[in-house]
Amino acid sequence: MPEHDVLIVGAGLAGMRAGIESFRNGVDVAIITKVHPVRSHSNAAQGGINAAMGGEGSDDSWEIHAYDTVKGSDWLGDQDAIEIMAREAPQDIYELEHMGVIFARDEYGRLTTRNFGGASRQRTFFVADITGQAILHVMHEQVLKSGMRVYEEWFVLSLIKQDGACVGVVAMDIISGAVEVIRAKAVVLATGGIGRVYEPSTNGLICTGDGHALAYRIGAPMMDMEMVQYHPTTLKGNGALLTEGARGEGAYLINSEGDRFMKTYAPSKMELASRDVVSRSEITEIQEGRGVDGCVFLDCRHLGEKLIMERLGQIYELALEFANVDMVKDPVPVRPGMHYIMGGVKTDVDGATQIPGLYAAGEGANISIHGGNRLGANSLLETVVFGRRAGAAAAEYAQQSGAHPAAPESDLIEAQCQKFQMLMDRPDPGFTTAKLRLEMGVSMDKNVSVYRDEAGMQETLKTLQDLRARFDKICVHDKGKVYNWNLYSTLEMENMLDVAEAIVVSALARKESRGAHARLDYTERDDDEWLKHTLVYHSPEGPLIDFSPVTITQWPPERRVY
Ligand code: FUM
Repeated sequence: MPEHDVLIVGAGLAGMRAGIESFRNGVDVAIITKVHPVRSHSNAAQGGINAAMGGEGSDDSWEIHAYDTVKGSDWLGDQDAIEIMAREAPQDIYELEHMGVIFARDEYGRLTTRNFGGASRQRTFFVADITGQAILHVMHEQVLKSGMRVYEEWFVLSLIKQDGACVGVVAMDIISGAVEVIRAKAVVLATGGIGRVYEPSTNGLICTGDGHALAYRIGAPMMDMEMVQYHPTTLKGNGALLTEGARGEGAYLINSEGDRFMKTYAPSKMELASRDVVSRSEITEIQEGRGVDGCVFLDCRHLGEKLIMERLGQIYELALEFANVDMVKDPVPVRPGMHYIMGGVKTDVDGATQIPGLYAAGEGANISIHGGNRLGANSLLETVVFGRRAGAAAAEYAQQSGAHPAAPESDLIEAQCQKFQMLMDRPDPGFTTAKLRLEMGVSMDKNVSVYRDEAGMQETLKTLQDLRARFDKICVHDKGKVYNWNLYSTLEMENMLDVAEAIVVSALARKESRGAHARLDYTERDDDEWLKHTLVYHSPEGPLIDFSPVTITQWPPERRVY
């Protein structure tokens, strides 16, 4: 049975950064990932990564970055965690640069930045519109250089909890179908987001909330799961991300009358207000009849071909290939689309969950830096700052632990194999996992999106209950072992149902509007009642809701205007 001091689940930026830090701390570390590392969803991050580094003529500081983030979060972010992120950001940018990330530079060869939403200063470092991809490849080189073991194309089935602590995983080798126990003194979940609980989403098909569900099922609470971010510029049709970097470079949002409508909603920040504000404004324009086919337009024409090709080449291609629009010549139809979840497995500022030995980092974690609404380009930053911190903390925990606890290997493997057999032996119920997944996503997008209300969310909760009852009859038609995609996507659906239910129950609980959680039936922010986090715990009877306080250090709540 394989054993490691630290096992990282997920090989996106948070996971690989955690792995590198554990390795540097002198422990035996391995990464397990359901896709090849450079296929991780961090690859899709486009616009950049934030850090207040000052620079010539700038009065930026970590305090201003932190304040912008607190305001962006609609005061739901924990300010101790936000301070750490803003303070440590510059060192992580330098480190990425030293690792080999080719950030954009100005005519004098100095690192340069672009504007981004919700930021009062220009502080977003970037690599054209492929920043995540550029960093991911460099991070992968570092992992390869270290020689750490990477279990590529392995799917984690469950976390092993023994005497109250997490002591490893049960996982399936997707290539061979073999099920194995992998023991670890500490496990770091870095499995990314939950985007595919919604349909459409900017997220890759792999973003199925696996880490959220694994931790939840062994008793770790998820926090602020109602906070789901809709990105203002997703492409008409397939919902692909068109980076906020375009607006950072000066692109406009216009309605069917050619009007820059953001002047009505956010006169000082215009297109660069926070994402929740811009997405709500777009929906209002569309609902009041100033959209076209459910969309408004991203107008880049005045930026010129040279800038578009140099800095926005990927989204130029996306618009051309998938919407047949040449953005040098024409505005691109866009609409708000599901992009990110601020909620996740509750952790402290070192990634520790409430289960000893279990850590989390990246989008799957909720350290509480994004609160009710994440600022663009703070997520790449989160992956490196808190991936690093979680990797160090997990290594320290592993060093202090004794010998590997004896996990009851054969029972755990047998239980999973029996489950697979049961799924394969069932009669065909006449529907597939793919059909259930689509129904779930469409209902979430309809009722738990930019605007929500009690009736809509109750409708989706009922849909989810119905989907769960049907899921309990699902049959896996592919009886093979090798690359059994049918089995693996069914296991993902099981994770997504838990996550979807947690989102809806949390959203029903929060009876106010804050950040991305805009209720039509409770339209105001209510700090007296609701300046608190929602926690959701797993129980056999269904999700249980609780609350915990928000940490305020130096920025008491204010009215939020852009
Ligand atoms: O618009 C974007 O490039 C997305 C960035 C982010 O979500 O941080």
